[in-house]
Amino acid sequence: MICIERLEDLRRQVADWRRTGERILFVPTMGNLHEGHLKLVREAKGYRGRRVVSIFVNPMQFGAGEDLASYPRTLTADRALLEGLGNDLLFIPAEETIYPGGQAGHTEVRVPDLSEDLCGTYRPGHFTGVATVVCKLFNMVRPDVAFFGEKDFQQLMVIRRMVADLAMPVEIIGVATEREPSGLAMSSRNQYMNEAERRLAPRLYQELQALAEALGRGDDDYPALELMAKLRLDEAGFRPDYVSIRRAEDLCLPVRGEPHLVVLAAARLGKTRLIDNLRVERGGPGIATPAATF
Ligand code: PAJ
Repeated sequence: MICIERLEDLRRQVADWRRTGERILFVPTMGNLHEGHLKLVREAKGYRGRRVVSIFVNPMQFGAGEDLASYPRTLTADRALLEGLGNDLLFIPAEETIYPGGQAGHTEVRVPDLSEDLCGTYRPGHFTGVATVVCKLFNMVRPDVAFFGEKDFQQLMVIRRMVADLAMPVEIIGVATEREPSGLAMSSRNQYMNEAERRLAPRLYQELQALAEALGRGDDDYPALELMAKLRLDEAGFRPDYVSIRRAEDLCLPVRGEPHLVVLAAARLGKTRLIDNLRVERGGPGIATPAATF
């Protein structure tokens, strides 16, 4: 695997591949790689082309008081995992490469409305930080196809909207969430939890499953379902930010009988903020199949 830190070296390598007709497949990450990330890299293997992974802990998407300083950085282990998967190139830009003049005054890419909803309400500026860095990484790597996890469903929607609105020549592939045997969605932030919190954490996904079942039974009182799930999480010891039932296509509020839904939740457990979601496909009245089960 080629490891590159400098933008000129990345551009040269990508240009060499492009000259020989290779397509570029891209998986952006913040490192501390786990099976969720590796699933994206494996998914890319199903496509023809060279696989590029980036590791950059992007300060622009962290708010004041968030975990930028403590975010786990495990480059040696990450590199070994990617070598093991036969990844072609690892791009590890320094902060000066991404923000040469610093973040202040840097051009921003803001996807309106979607970025201020759900997690955006609780993390102001977060999705602008994400859209800006992903746009920039796309301009550096110039991928034909890029892979993002459905684990961060709202992020995936923001990226899809940015790509559509700005006519970016890249295909976006969403990859299903990788889970622990307990059902807990894998996340770099799971390691912030203590033993008791880890035991409790799978309840979040169980609540999403319970909501999916209720929707399947034909229950269409979305606000009541959301409120009940939030109360149950609260009683279990979480501090939920939101539980929300949305239209899967665009995260808009669903009408009654909406066939393609996604249930999204964010909740704090101690100092850890967990997010998860579950898609629900309703074939007709009273028929539901959770789109992603473990
Ligand atoms: P990071 O949290 O490192 O995640 C990188 C990619 O892995 C994202 O597309 C994320 O959705 C996906 N991912 C994480 N956990 C997953 C899981 N359990 N199953 C499937 N996919 C999973 O998301 C970011 O970094 C950043 O915001 C980034 C897009 C790199 C921009 O800085």
